[in-house]
Amino acid sequence: MHMSKKSSTFAAAKVMIMIKSAQYIISSPDVKDCPKSILPEYAFIGRSNVGKSSLINMLCHNPKLAKTSQKPGKTLLINHFLINEQWHLVDLPGYGYAQAGQKQRDALKRMIERYCLLREQLVCLFVLVDCRHEPQKIDLEFINWLGENGVPFAIVFTKGDKLGKVRLKENVEAYKARLLEDWEELPPVFVTSAETKLGGEELTAYIEQLNQEVQS
Ligand code: GTP
Ligand code: MG
Repeated sequence: MHMSKKSSTFAAAKVMIMIKSAQYIISSPDVKDCPKSILPEYAFIGRSNVGKSSLINMLCHNPKLAKTSQKPGKTLLINHFLINEQWHLVDLPGYGYAQAGQKQRDALKRMIERYCLLREQLVCLFVLVDCRHEPQKIDLEFINWLGENGVPFAIVFTKGDKLGKVRLKENVEAYKARLLEDWEELPPVFVTSAETKLGGEELTAYIEQLNQEVQS
């Protein structure tokens, strides 16, 4: 008990200095246009309006870094941010925005799939899911597609501030149970809020852990 408490305090203290700098680099229409550097990379994906850009801003302590909007379909390119001059955080467009025409939806789908399959620097893709909703077909299909194609991923629940503690836990557990219908093992799961900063330290610590693993 004592040991684990001590180590988690240590982890939190370490995290506070983790994201020291965050700098916008470039917006690319296709994976072939993305930065050529081989820095480890982490990308945020999920339905339009789920809170990808807001979460990136929360993690980087900069509300203006990635563009956010109340209207879905704000992010339409692959946006690279350089973190601590050591790794990239990537804001991807959302998938499945109903109001976008079929042509735009298909183009975005292709952009996202090409990025996931061809970006060799990608260490982990974070799939964002709104904690208020039941598991959605479009997310489950995308998650299964990632599994079939061997793309490493984790699940991040967003907008945790919008539910009470009990309901939040129930929804997360229900989602995990749904995933276990298709998967033998659960991927890493994080619960976050860009409003209250819930889960920010855990997510940053996880990225830092992966950074260390890829370096060694
Ligand atoms: P696209 O770029 O259009 O795919 O959307 P996105 O996934 O980047 O979402 P974005 O970060 O722009 O946020 C969409 C809306 O949700 C905005 O109005 C945000 O203020 C709101 N939002 C995002 N995260 C949170 C959160 O944790 N809590 C609350 N209450 N609102 C949030
Ligand atoms: Mg966005």
